[in-house]
Amino acid sequence: MIKMTQAFQKVAAIRGMNDLLPGASARWEQFEEIVRGWLRGYGYRNVRTPVLEHTRLFARGIGEVTDIVEKEMYTFTDALNGESLTMRPEMTAGIVRASIEHNMLYDRPQRVYSIGPVFRHERPQRGRYRQFHQIDVEALGFSGPDVDAELIVMLARLWKLLGLTDVRLELNSLGQPAERAAHRAALIEHLEKHRDVLDEDGQRRMYSNPLRVLDTKNPAMQEMADSAPRLFDFLGDESRAHFDGVCQRLAEAGIEYRLNPRLVRGLDYYNLTVFEWVTDRLGSQGTVCGGGRYDGLVELLGGKPAPAVGFAIGMERLLDLWEQSVQMPAPAECDVYVVHQGEEAQRLAARVGEDLRDAGLSVIVHAGPASFKSQFKRADASGARVAVILGADEVAAQAASVKYLRSDAQGETAQQQVPLAGLADVLNIKG
Ligand code: HAM
Repeated sequence: MIKMTQAFQKVAAIRGMNDLLPGASARWEQFEEIVRGWLRGYGYRNVRTPVLEHTRLFARGIGEVTDIVEKEMYTFTDALNGESLTMRPEMTAGIVRASIEHNMLYDRPQRVYSIGPVFRHERPQRGRYRQFHQIDVEALGFSGPDVDAELIVMLARLWKLLGLTDVRLELNSLGQPAERAAHRAALIEHLEKHRDVLDEDGQRRMYSNPLRVLDTKNPAMQEMADSAPRLFDFLGDESRAHFDGVCQRLAEAGIEYRLNPRLVRGLDYYNLTVFEWVTDRLGSQGTVCGGGRYDGLVELLGGKPAPAVGFAIGMERLLDLWEQSVQMPAPAECDVYVVHQGEEAQRLAARVGEDLRDAGLSVIVHAGPASFKSQFKRADASGARVAVILGADEVAAQAASVKYLRSDAQGETAQQQVPLAGLADVLNIKG
């Protein structure tokens, strides 16, 4: 047992996992509000799946031979029943599992989204964390290029809503499994020829997942990767038509893109369209959003075959970019800050606070002993546009003194007394 007299060693947060404190979280809430409105605008509905899933869901869904499954998952054995469990490293596999389990695709396709934390044991740095957050958007049961394009157009709208200009679109097609198989054979031949420049991961993945070898960041392997046979050249007519369909719609919507034949994504479930939105303003972790089509995943996870396409936005990265691009004052903690002096005034303050909230205002009633002066300081720091002052005089007169704290609140600065009965109306009008 721990003796209470022993000093307790402070506990810090886990490396790569961030606390979100009130100042920053206010910005997140603003952002989430914009995002939810944007998602509603396209008819997406919210789903929430567990943070913990069976490990085999991700091993099968994301692919055994991927960085995520091989080295980045928080996997542990449940001490109570011996099951292998994993903290979700992404949301798509969980959402697809849920859609199968609840027969969601039985009679119609589904547009769904989820917002929440995901976990990857990567080396932490700016824009790369071990717990981070995604806005995950999935269109389940749709096969046409119109939906691929709609998702991309939808993202362009979000950048516009946020006032972001420095994001660009990279696009590729991964074709279908048979096309990938033909490309794979040619690629393995190429890798065998350049075996001497392959690093350890490259050697190991050469036969198990050769496409992933091209996804390398190793500078010594860039030349080999650049000269490798391009999957794009192995696409058949149907895959090309799908890709052209997407490109045409993007052109119609006025969205520019760069065809990047090296774009393979870090998860194995993709086919046909894949895309990423990248920026140069975030250093080495410049991908703010990634996604694509994954027509085989529902069947791979045991469901009746159904096409699907989606994407996920990295929230930390996007917020970082948003903060850099758009200066915004921190939102106020409340509309009205109530300061008071004396026991009776304190009681009145609580009541006035409730009345003003009834009228739709957000109100902080000062708590704890403090002089008027320091209460005013707090009122000012809260960002409230008005202070309501209650002292002995106000109690006697059943009135409140009102002081506007922001000079932009109609230039009003002088203090005025307002009868309590009319206070809410006065404050609401002066907003
Ligand atoms: P992903 O590319 O692995 O795709 O992740 C999506 C986004 O999450 C990335 O573009 C990036 O912004 C962010 N992200 C990834 N790793 C980290 C990290 N360690 N720290 C901070 N942000 C990070 C997926 O997860 C797929 N499930 C997307 C998808 C949905 N595809 C189809 N549907």
